[in-house]
This record gives sequence, structure tokens and C-alpha cells, in this order.
Amino acid sequence: MVESFEEPIFVTRPLLPDMQDITQKMTEIWASQWVTNNGRQQNDLQEKLLDYVQAENLTLFTNGTMALLLGLKSLGLTGEVITTPFTFPATVQALDWNGLTPVFCDIEPETLTIDVSKIEALITEKTSAILGVHVFGNPCNVQEIQRIADKYGLKVIYDGAHAFGSEIDSQPAGSHGDMTMYSFHATKLFHTIEGGALVFKDPQLAPVLDQLKNFGLAGKEEVVLSGLNAKMNEIQAAVGLETLKLLDIEREKRHRVKRIYEEQLADVPGIRAVTHLEGKDSSYQYFVIEVDEHKFGRTRDWLHDHLEQHNVFSRKYFYPLCSDFQWYKTLKSVQPTNLPQAQKTVKEVLAMPYYGELETASVIQICTLIKRCHVVAAGAAL
Ligand SMILES: Cc1ncc(COP(=O)(O)O)c(C=O)c1O
Repeated sequence: MVESFEEPIFVTRPLLPDMQDITQKMTEIWASQWVTNNGRQQNDLQEKLLDYVQAENLTLFTNGTMALLLGLKSLGLTGEVITTPFTFPATVQALDWNGLTPVFCDIEPETLTIDVSKIEALITEKTSAILGVHVFGNPCNVQEIQRIADKYGLKVIYDGAHAFGSEIDSQPAGSHGDMTMYSFHATKLFHTIEGGALVFKDPQLAPVLDQLKNFGLAGKEEVVLSGLNAKMNEIQAAVGLETLKLLDIEREKRHRVKRIYEEQLADVPGIRAVTHLEGKDSSYQYFVIEVDEHKFGRTRDWLHDHLEQHNVFSRKYFYPLCSDFQWYKTLKSVQPTNLPQAQKTVKEVLAMPYYGELETASVIQICTLIKRCHVVAAGAAL
């Protein structure tokens, strides 16, 4: 009989700076009486992040969704964009809000990112871009995507909500494609409570993005673009500046948690760790497993509920598939047979509790719960 946890163990815990450091920042902001619109904290954070992610161009937003939405707009895309159905709703909603049609491409089974071998067959004369997602920090096949994009004259955008602080092929994640979005939501390792950023290749986009996130204003009296209000404010930026100082230690702590999960789950039939990258290659944002019900003896949903009964809150992330959204049902590209791998994966993945403060004993206890389920499946007692 495995013990339940007395206190709930959630899938993540926000990385919170010391309250005294935050209070000091708030005192500075209050004294300056400058709380949003290109204030000092925001400019400081922008400078520090440029350095941290080694980007040439970076601009901050109120959240990752708005960053992606306005980034797509700045590229002037039209028609269809090839993307993955296995992502968070925001990826495809950013397309919807730009009047772009998502064309869903299946995913590949190892990394769960867009399957590059299936992209070309989906390209039509209406295709203007490929929107890849570095799922759980697993990088897309950036070389092959760029090759296809160059061949057909397409833009490449990455939803890098999960890839902040990591490298792909020894280059910063954001250096691939035309543009990459990062999310700084509180569930992410680096966060500004809510927030996001775009890094981009073309420096000429910088003024356009600045206008797009500020109502399309160019100066006080001229409105040149149909923009939105998507600016990051000073309090978000101040939290970011303090959180940034904690990242290296938090990455080390998560490395430890990841290793314990891996050791504990290594021999459990039907359980595969989907997030195995380490060091510079990893964003250390998630630890995700895949449950093969035939080998494990239980479904992912069963395991999710079982953990919950023991006060462990894992997450079916991502679920459901974006191609199953009711407003896409009429699209020709969204045929059930088109996306066999994504349809399988969406029933198998489970994001496990993952944060630096998660104690070794707790990780072992969670893994014991999982192991016992397999034993039960084979006929032994719980
Ligand atoms: C893949 C992906 N894209 C986009 C987003 C949206 O980012 P935000 O919450 O910063 O708007 C998320 C949020 O977690 C995400 O996981």
C-alpha cells in the first residue's frame, strides 16, 4: 500500500524571488511613478534577455500568445500555415486571430514535434509559412524545416514557449527560423507572472512590433497599424529581473529531479520519458512521460486519476488535440486519418510534477505509485 501525499503535489510551482527583493523593486517603481510603457524595468529586462538568449533582436509582450499573434501579423502572412495539432490552443488561436488557416501536419513519435517528412505534401499555392512548436523543449527538426521553407519561399516561425534558455544544434533556440516566441507565464521556468517575448531575424521588424503592441501608434497622433495593447508592464518586468537571477540554480535543481524520475522509472514497462535532454540542450521546463497502455497495463487517463487520488496532480498536456477543436471540424485538412501519431500521442502523454523544490523523497514516492500500478496490472495487490 503506497502512501498518499498529505499536501497536494501540483504539476509545477512558480519560481518566486525573495519577497524583500521584490519589495525593493516595487519601491523603485513607485518612486519613479512610471509603471508601464517602456519604463526602466522593461528596458533593463530587454537588455538582459537579449544577452541571456543570445539574440540580436528581442521585444517583450504582455504574454506569449500576444507575442505570437502580433509576430505573425508583422510578417504579413496570408492563406495557410502548416503547423502541428499537438500544441497548446494559443498556437493555433494566434493563427485564427490573423485570419490564417492552420493546416495540421502529423507529429513524429520520438520528439512529438511536427513530422518534417509530411510537410511538403501539405504545401499548396496558399501556404505562406511553417509554424513549428518545440514541444516540451524538444526541438523541431530546424534544418529540414528551413530547407523546405527555402525551397518553397515560406516563412518559418517557432512557438518556443517551452524552449527558453535552451540551444538547438549548439545555437540558441531562437536563432532558427524568422521568429521565435517565448512564453513567460508563471508555469514556465523563467517567468514574469504573465509575459512573453519575440526574438526575430529582421531588425526592420523592431519598430513594427513596437507599434503593433501599442495600438499601432507611431508618435502621439498617428495610428499607422491595426495594433493591440500587448505591452509588458513594469511590475512584470521587475519580477522577471529578479527571477532571472535564480535560473541557473533552478536549472541545476530540476536536473536532479529529472535524473531521479529517470532512474526510478527506467525499468517500468510502458513508461517512456519524453523529455530527456540535458544541460544546454534542455529548457528544464517539463518532465513528461508517455504511457503505453498495452505494456503498462493501464491507460494514461487511469494513471492520471490514480495519481490524483493520492494527491498528485499531473497534467494531460496537451489535451485535446487542436485539430479536434469544434471550429476546425469542417476543414478538409483535418481528416482523422491524417494525424495518426498525434491522435495516439494525445492519449498517452502526462506531464509530471516538476520544480526544483520537489524533494527527492516525493519524486520517489510518485514513481513508486506509478510502478505499483504496473504491478497491479500484472495481477498483484495494490
Ligand atoms: C506551446 C505553447 N504556446 C503558447 C502558449 C501561450 O503562452 P502564454 O501563456 O504566455 O500566452 C503556451 C502556454 O503555456 C504554450 O504551452
